[in-house]
Amino acid sequence: MSQAQHHAQLIDGKAAAAALLETVRQDVAALRASGVIPTLAVVLVGDDPASHVYVRNKVLRASEVGIRSLEHRLPADTGQHALLKLIATLNADAGVNGILVQMPLPAQIDEGAVIDAIDPHKDVDGFHRENVGRLVLGEPALTPCTPSGCLFLLKQTLGDLSGKHAVVIGRSNIVGKPMAALLLHANCSVTVLHSRSVGARELCRQADIVVAAVGRAQMIDASWIKPGATVIDVGINRIQAGDKTRLVGDAEFDSVARVAGAMTPVPGGVGPMTIAFLMKNTVLAAKRQSQHDL
Ligand code: GUN
Repeated sequence: MSQAQHHAQLIDGKAAAAALLETVRQDVAALRASGVIPTLAVVLVGDDPASHVYVRNKVLRASEVGIRSLEHRLPADTGQHALLKLIATLNADAGVNGILVQMPLPAQIDEGAVIDAIDPHKDVDGFHRENVGRLVLGEPALTPCTPSGCLFLLKQTLGDLSGKHAVVIGRSNIVGKPMAALLLHANCSVTVLHSRSVGARELCRQADIVVAAVGRAQMIDASWIKPGATVIDVGINRIQAGDKTRLVGDAEFDSVARVAGAMTPVPGGVGPMTIAFLMKNTVLAAKRQSQHDL
């Protein structure tokens, strides 16, 4: 007789995103009824295939909830000056509520300068230094979409996060750093691990919550996870499986599922939540801008 093996509860990001997008759709309808058409400008430079997929999904999701999107596709050899000019035009356009410049940008363009140029009130990615500063200070801000989505899934799964030990693996400006700030505001004890950490696995094994955002396929296996911990996998890595490519996370799913209490799958975990929060941020920006106009 075989003993039933433990399997972590699956955290369904697709379902959570669908529910969230329904509330966004209602907010958009209310704004439209008051004469405001929430509008997101999406800027894509070059031909990175993954970026094209992400942008297509963002534009599709926007149209589903009634957000107008304006796509600006620029060639790979676009210069920094031309991109900054476009951003200045979008900043000045009162009909544009949110501006998203898809990263990464081609090497000849300074990403920091581009982010600095975006009006912080239209910075729906939450990457501008004013929004980063506000997030760290605990003031109202536009907050990066992926960490916001992770926090939402954690609260949905665990309720109050107070006192929990959260380990964030990865220290990027897009995910790791803002994730740590959000978890701190949720009263977690936060440890951030990175490529120079000593004893990373042992530290991670003390965590109640693990957010994996390293971008290394299947780096985290069961030996990193305390039994019953909640694991949020931010990784989207393409690996070769025979003659096909397959999407995998930063966690080795089958291994982690044997010890974790709950975990997100890849795909269908964090990804849909990122897009849902982009829509939520766009509506928030539109609301704040329309109130500012009164
Ligand atoms: N590239 C990878 N993630 C993101 C994101 O959240 N926003 C933008 N603009 N680019 C990205």
